[in-house]
Amino acid sequence: MERTFLAIKPDGVQRGLVGEIIRRFETKGFTLVGLKFMKVSRELAEQHYAVHRERPFFPGLVEFIISSPVVAMVWEGEGVVAAARKIIGATNPLNAEPGTIRGDFGVNVGRNLIHGSDAQETAQTEIALWFKDEELVAWQPHSKPWLN
Ligand code: TYD
Repeated sequence: MERTFLAIKPDGVQRGLVGEIIRRFETKGFTLVGLKFMKVSRELAEQHYAVHRERPFFPGLVEFIISSPVVAMVWEGEGVVAAARKIIGATNPLNAEPGTIRGDFGVNVGRNLIHGSDAQETAQTEIALWFKDEELVAWQPHSKPWLN
């Protein structure tokens, strides 16, 4: 089953949006398989955003991500990678549609509340980077047989 990596960034945690953000993925019908509240090391932040290493915003982005705790998550479900990106909204919150997380709560591209993997291949790389196998819980929400 398809999985994606999501992280509520320091601004999302500090603004008290953890519950609100998790709620959107839960009520959509996706399944939580990994969750941890953690401070991010500089090494992990630099690896996670390695693709942006040469961009002018990279140093500030790394400092932001390591500044304060984040909520790292893995969610599972059919089409979850693309659907999560839709739920999250455009990178710049000022361009993000109302109804998306960034559209509803953000104004600043450098403080856009949440990360979500941009493709299935990236998701696999990011899940392996952030989570050990034993931290992921494969389960079926049997108590809700009509979820899907
Ligand atoms: P990117 O991977 O392009 O966006 P997304 O998070 O939507 O996949 O960029 C990664 C993060 O880098 C982005 O969430 C916020 C930050 N960023 C800036 O601070 N300034 C910028 O101009 C861009 C493009 C990104």
